[in-house]
Amino acid sequence: MRILVTGGAGYIGSHTVLKLLEKNIDVVVVDNLSKGHMEAVLTENFEKIDILKIDELEKVFKKYKFDGVIHFVAHCYVGESVKNPKLYFEENLNGLLNVLNCMLKYNVKNIIFSSTCAVYGEPKFIPITEKHPRDPINPYGETKYFGERILKRYEGAYGINFISLRYFNAAGADFKGRIGESHNPETHLIPLVIKSILDNDFTLTVFGNDYKTEDGSCIRDYIHVLDLGEAHVLALLYLLDGGKSQYINLGSGKGFSVFEIIKTLEKISGKKSKYKIGERRLGDPPILVANNDLAKELLNWNPVYSDIEDILKSAYKWHLSPKF
Ligand SMILES: NC(=O)c1ccc[n+]([C@@H]2O[C@H](COP(=O)([O-])OP(=O)(O)OC[C@H]3O[C@@H](n4cnc5c(N)ncnc54)[C@H](O)[C@@H]3O)[C@@H](O)[C@H]2O)c1
Repeated sequence: MRILVTGGAGYIGSHTVLKLLEKNIDVVVVDNLSKGHMEAVLTENFEKIDILKIDELEKVFKKYKFDGVIHFVAHCYVGESVKNPKLYFEENLNGLLNVLNCMLKYNVKNIIFSSTCAVYGEPKFIPITEKHPRDPINPYGETKYFGERILKRYEGAYGINFISLRYFNAAGADFKGRIGESHNPETHLIPLVIKSILDNDFTLTVFGNDYKTEDGSCIRDYIHVLDLGEAHVLALLYLLDGGKSQYINLGSGKGFSVFEIIKTLEKISGKKSKYKIGERRLGDPPILVANNDLAKELLNWNPVYSDIEDILKSAYKWHLSPKF
């Protein structure tokens, strides 16, 4: 079996490639390395291309025969998407369309799509099930929502099977320290808390301490990136086994506040985090927690790395000696 992974040099992509290779699945990575890292590419089958250039992408489809595609490539900064929606709509949607159109031309029928809990917008109930209304409140979330609509139409018209995986907060790193999280700029809480512990010159801003939660800070659902990787493999096998297209939440089902993350990382590191309290960010809901029953039922997925201490220990270990 051979799978194309777009964005396989990135954070979630590289950990998913690790899981695919562990299962002896042949992987081809395409990435333009604009945000990803060559050191995170774990296969020799690597093509440095820009998927927005369909000719370059087509060459890859011509060179290899694929059984499926896992599509990670996207711009994924909420704030940037509000300031520059053009970039997000053009590139996130054209990237997906190029991948789908190559799949049509080269008769590849199965795709796993990186979606997000941002498709739900402001939560109307917690935990969030897949039936929760989709009402994204920023262009980033909208590109994922429109991406899901495109997939549905390509399924109906051309028989492309898809699983749209709606991740909550991806976190943690490979336990052996080979790969880990390295976004630039970094906006994710856990690497920023670790930075506030390790870097004397950096102070973390906690956005709001007056939410209606027990300690006043926002609560999020953190899922270990290797559990995410495993879910992609299971989703692929599900489709290859004849399973129907689905939208599936991937979260741990448990919520942790910003202050709980800070305290636990202080305990793990034995050091203090430097932080200050800032204004709430627009559109930051107090609580986001997934209902993950569907992933468990349909994919037989069982997150095994997502105990919060394991997540934070693996992240801390990576940031003590990052390879990139
Ligand atoms: N990190 C999270 O917590 C999270 C949560 C929900 C959804 N997601 C989604 O998961 C996916 C992966 O996220 P990530 O955190 O691994 O991001 P990432 O930036 O680490 O990975 C994206 C990869 O795509 C590559 N890329 C970008 N534009 C490209 C292009 N035009 N052609 C070829 N390669 C290109 C980048 O170089 C990078 O390696 C994204 O679609 C994101 O929206 C992430």
